[in-house]
Amino acid sequence: MPKLAAVTGWPLTYTRSPILHNYWCARYGIDGLYLRLPLAPEDFESGIRALQALGFAGLNVTIPHKEAAFALVDRRTPPAQRAGSVNTLIFEADGTVTGDCTDGVGYIDSLKEAGVSLPRRALVLGAGGASRAVCAALLDAGCTLTLANRTQSRAEAIVSALGGGDVIAWEDWTAHLPDVELLVNTTSLGMKGHEGFDWGDCLTHASPSLVVSDIVYMPLETPLLAAAHARSLKAVDGLGMLIHQARPGFAAWFGPYPEADATLRARLV
Ligand code: ATR
Repeated sequence: MPKLAAVTGWPLTYTRSPILHNYWCARYGIDGLYLRLPLAPEDFESGIRALQALGFAGLNVTIPHKEAAFALVDRRTPPAQRAGSVNTLIFEADGTVTGDCTDGVGYIDSLKEAGVSLPRRALVLGAGGASRAVCAALLDAGCTLTLANRTQSRAEAIVSALGGGDVIAWEDWTAHLPDVELLVNTTSLGMKGHEGFDWGDCLTHASPSLVVSDIVYMPLETPLLAAAHARSLKAVDGLGMLIHQARPGFAAWFGPYPEADATLRARLV
């Protein structure tokens, strides 16, 4: 009987997680299978319980289930508690469920993989679920944080929940660039089908050493990263975070802590 894990979300039309985990199963010679299992919100809890009873090792949870997963688990890791959401469920041998949030560590590891040392000061754009996990990881790594979001109250809520960081007005973020070493886009702007912002001259005020990163990975070269390349700034795309956020779950379910190798990266683009 292979070890089983899956990703669930709704509608879960497109996910790269099975490519990642099944690649690692093959690479590490593990008799394991990672499935794509859409669950409508009304079926989420009963679906989770059924998969647990069927002997699954655990699950990845994506939109819109991350908050429901946070509420359902028996215990949360410190990053999940900080992020206020859960993207990884581990079904323990004693029948309990542990919830982890690996987005923050995935982001930090993607910077490390790109050869970027942790910045002293970062500017984060966006205040959705992914933003809170990234902000928590940056703050916990000792970074001074500034947050800008179109809806300012959401940025204020993150700063208040995390107990750190400053909020600036969305209209002011480009002027703030000389003060930071890292810019992170966590908004959906630049994602395929979410155009509507002119990124062209947004980096005019950047210092030559600014590192620009985007957690959007479709397309890989987002308009923000294109603007960074045009100014010869270091740019870090979102594929690294996608890969690195998957590693702790794989280790918990299948055993080895997997590597983010070039073959895997090539399969995901
Ligand atoms: P997730 O949880 O995946 O991060 P989300 O909660 O939908 O996603 O958040 C999307 C982010 O993109 C938010 O910060 C959103 O800003 P608002 O909080 O003001 O909605 C941001 N975003 C989406 N469209 C935007 C736009 N046209 N201009 C500026 N920000 C935008």
